[in-house]
Amino acid sequence: MAKGPYSEKVMDHFMNPRNMGEIEGANAVGEVGNPACGDVMKIFLDIDDAGIVKDVKFKTFGCGAAIASSSMATELIKGKKVEEILALTNQAIVDALGGLPPAKIHCSVMAEEAIEEALKDFYIRKGEDPAIVQKMK
Ligand code: FES
Ligand code: FES
Repeated sequence: MAKGPYSEKVMDHFMNPRNMGEIEGANAVGEVGNPACGDVMKIFLDIDDAGIVKDVKFKTFGCGAAIASSSMATELIKGKKVEEILALTNQAIVDALGGLPPAKIHCSVMAEEAIEEALKDFYIRKGEDPAIVQKMK
């Protein structure tokens, strides 16, 4: 196959996205959008009492790199503790995808930010200070 700008992993996650959809009754939801282009990414988390992400789903209206970034991000955080995913950076998503073209890095940033927003929502719902999410970065 001719080599395009995308790694095989990106193509795989774009063609067969993991964990796409919605979680009804999710206890943390995060949404980010880019007003300039109208792209939207939404992440749903189901976090248990031990602080473990039991389930995660995403809905993304955006380009292939954004879909691949969301898909990879859900795989990186599923089964992990909240404390671990607080430290997730967009670079970790890019690395796991085998790289992204420079013009598409911001798509992975959207995934990092959507997870960040979901974690803030998680702490707010627990009655705790969501500022912890920024502090752990
Ligand atoms: Fe919309 Fe990149 S073009 S986020
Ligand atoms: Fe618009 Fe990737 S989400 S360029």
